[in-house]
Amino acid sequence: MATDIIYLNGEFMPLEAARIPVLDRGFIFGDGVYEVIPVYSRHPFRLPEHLRRLKHSLDGIRLANPLSNPEWTRLTHDIIARNPGDDQSIYFQITRGAAKRAHEFPQDAQPTVFMMSSPLVTPPREQVENGIACVTTSDFRWLKCDVKSVSLLGNCLLKQLAVDAGVVEVVLFRDGYLTEASACNVCVVRDGVLLAPPKNHLILPGITYDVVLELARANQIPLEVREVSEQEVKAAQEIWITSSTKEVLAVTALDGRAVGDGRPGTVFRRIYALYQDFKQTVMRRAA
Ligand code: PDD
Repeated sequence: MATDIIYLNGEFMPLEAARIPVLDRGFIFGDGVYEVIPVYSRHPFRLPEHLRRLKHSLDGIRLANPLSNPEWTRLTHDIIARNPGDDQSIYFQITRGAAKRAHEFPQDAQPTVFMMSSPLVTPPREQVENGIACVTTSDFRWLKCDVKSVSLLGNCLLKQLAVDAGVVEVVLFRDGYLTEASACNVCVVRDGVLLAPPKNHLILPGITYDVVLELARANQIPLEVREVSEQEVKAAQEIWITSSTKEVLAVTALDGRAVGDGRPGTVFRRIYALYQDFKQTVMRRAA
């Protein structure tokens, strides 16, 4: 088993050798942001879009980008090359760095920059073919969910709720409207129309969400980007979750009740095939 090689503050090293100070604000306050980028056949998928979102997250916490996009791109390719496996999941984390513990921003801290690679684990066939179960609950997270913050306690509590219920994810509602899931975006199909909540401060602007909406538009699948009420979700014929690691999955049971006929729907099967084709095409072009 090869040792995982990580990047920390300018150096590559084995994961076991990496150390950060206990006063790092990422550890003390969750004061940092992150990204997760899927890699297929050693090619990062939608890297420019991930870097754009990283910049949005950094702007959201008023932290200057410590690296330029060409530097991020070079480091991403370096870390992919140094780790085993053709399909990887690349994780970036930037925190405001180590400083005496005080809530306000430190004057002179150096940001901590960390990157690691893990094997990319996409959903098993069984989940693609049969769909997954979810439960619903209210979204109690903060009001800056568009920032991909490492302060993920709300998301962790919500994900554990799913695990405790024996399901894969939670579908979240705020003030009677769909937001997202603990680590995925959510959209639904009603009467053949794909309904997706708008990208605003209440959800993470998913890169996979964008791919799915682009594919819907390009393939004449009717689409409405608008607020989706809890009643609409509960009466939907199809519910999907999307993320870089889950790709697109159908939710076939919600709160113990079948969604549609309890099988992945026809629109899901179409978008899933389009997504896989699209991935192949992009990767072939990058090779
Ligand atoms: N999660 N919403 C939330 C809250 C998320 O954490 C994620 C991703 C998404 C989907 O975004 P994307 O399509 O860009 O992966 C939506 C990542 C995978 C994670 O935290 O591991």
